[in-house]
Amino acid sequence: MTKFRFLTAGESHGMGLTVILEGIPSNLSLSEEYIRIDMSRRQKGYGSGGRMKIEKDSANIKSGVRHGKTLGSPISLWIENKDWENWTTAMAIEPVNEKDDIKRQTKIVPGHADFPGTLKYNHKDVRNVLERASARETAARVAVGSICKKFLSEIGIDIKSRVISIGWEKTSVANVDQINWEHVENSIVRSTNTREEQLFTNVIDQAKKERTTIGGVFQVIGFGIPLGLGDYIQWDNKLDGKIAQSMMSINAVKGVEIGNGFNNTEKYGNLVQDVIEPNSQDERKFSHKTNHAGGLEGGMSNGNNIIVNVAVKPIATMTKPLPSVDIISGDIVEAAYNRSDICQVARACPIGEAMLAITLSEVVLEKFGGDSIQEIKRNYKAYISSFKEYGK
Ligand SMILES: Cc1cc2nc3c(=O)[nH]c(=O)nc-3n(C[C@H](O)[C@H](O)[C@H](O)COP(=O)(O)O)c2cc1C
Repeated sequence: MTKFRFLTAGESHGMGLTVILEGIPSNLSLSEEYIRIDMSRRQKGYGSGGRMKIEKDSANIKSGVRHGKTLGSPISLWIENKDWENWTTAMAIEPVNEKDDIKRQTKIVPGHADFPGTLKYNHKDVRNVLERASARETAARVAVGSICKKFLSEIGIDIKSRVISIGWEKTSVANVDQINWEHVENSIVRSTNTREEQLFTNVIDQAKKERTTIGGVFQVIGFGIPLGLGDYIQWDNKLDGKIAQSMMSINAVKGVEIGNGFNNTEKYGNLVQDVIEPNSQDERKFSHKTNHAGGLEGGMSNGNNIIVNVAVKPIATMTKPLPSVDIISGDIVEAAYNRSDICQVARACPIGEAMLAITLSEVVLEKFGGDSIQEIKRNYKAYISSFKEYGK
C-alpha cells in the first residue's frame, strides 16, 4: 500500500499549480467535473476581490485515472492560472532584461509572509515570497480535498461547512442538526439563514466603507465518522492534533476550536462532558447524550460528528494601507496594495472542508488500509461488526 501524501507546487501569478497525490486506492470513480464543482465553491463569497473574477478554476487530471477510475498510482493535477498571460515577463522562468517590468515589490505588507520570508530567503524582491505564500495555493488543496471527499464518501463520511461569525455578528444556530444546508450552499456568505446573511453582509459592507477588512469564524463538520480514527498512544497520532495542524495551515487562520472547546472553559465539568448511555440502535451499542467534545475524545473519533471551528483573521491588504517599510531603502512607506478581498471567511470554508477531508483520509487509510476501494470497504465492515461484542 502506498503511503498517503500530497505535494503542491506553483506561484500565484505563475503558469499554474501542480499537485501530486499518492495513496488514493484503486477503483474510485473520479472526473474533472467532480473536482471542478468544489473548486468553484472556493471562488464564491461576498467580499471577494478582483482575482476571483478572472480565475475560473478547474483541475486537469494528468495521471492516475483511467476510464473514470483511479488506478492506485499517483494522481497528478494541473490547475492553470488564467491570469498568467499578464505575468509572462514578471514571472518568467528564464532571465529577463533589466529594463523589463518585473513587478518588483519592496514594500512590506504587515501580517503577510513578506518580512520574515524576504530576509530568511535572502531575496531583494518581496514578490519572490508573496507569490508562493499567497492563498492561491489553496486552490490546489481544494482539488486534493475533493478527491479525498469522494474517497471518504465510500464509507459514508460527508463533510460540510458554514460561516458562524463575521466580525462581531454571530450565528444563533448552535445545533448542527438544525442547519439548512441548501441555504448555506446558496448563500453568498455561507450563512445558516437570511437573517444572518443580512447581518454578515452588513458588517462586510461597513468594513469596505471604512477601507479596511474583516475576519470571522467558520465551522467544518464531518458527518458519518466511524469510532476509532486517530489514536491515544503517541502525541503525533492524536486526531484532534492533526486536525488543528491542518486547519492552522490555511492562510490567515489564527485559531482552531474542537467542539465547544472555548465555551466549555466557562462552565463546570459536569455540564460539558458528553454522558454515554446504552443504545442498541447505534452501531457502537452506546451513544452520547450531547456532543460538546466535537466528536473527539482522547485523540480519537468517538463516532459523533466532528465539529471544528476555525478563526480567520481580517486580511492584511487594505485599500487604506497601514504604515510600513521599504525593505531595500529602509524608508517608512505605505504598505503595498494589490487587488484584494475584504472578507475571505466564506471562501475559506471549502478550504477547511478540504483540510478535514485530507486529514480524515490519512487516518481512514491507516485504520482500514487497502490498495483498492473494495479492500478498504471490507476492512471497514469487519471492524464495525466487531462492536457487536459489546453491550446488549
Ligand atoms: C481564501 C483566502 C483568500 C485570501 N485572500 C487574500 C487577499 O486577497 N489579500 C490578502 O492580503 N490576504 C489574503 N488572504 C490571507 C493571506 O494569504 C495570509 O494572511 C498571508 O498569507 C499570511 O499568512 P498568515 O495570515 O497565515 O500568517 C487570503 C486567505 C484565504 C484563506
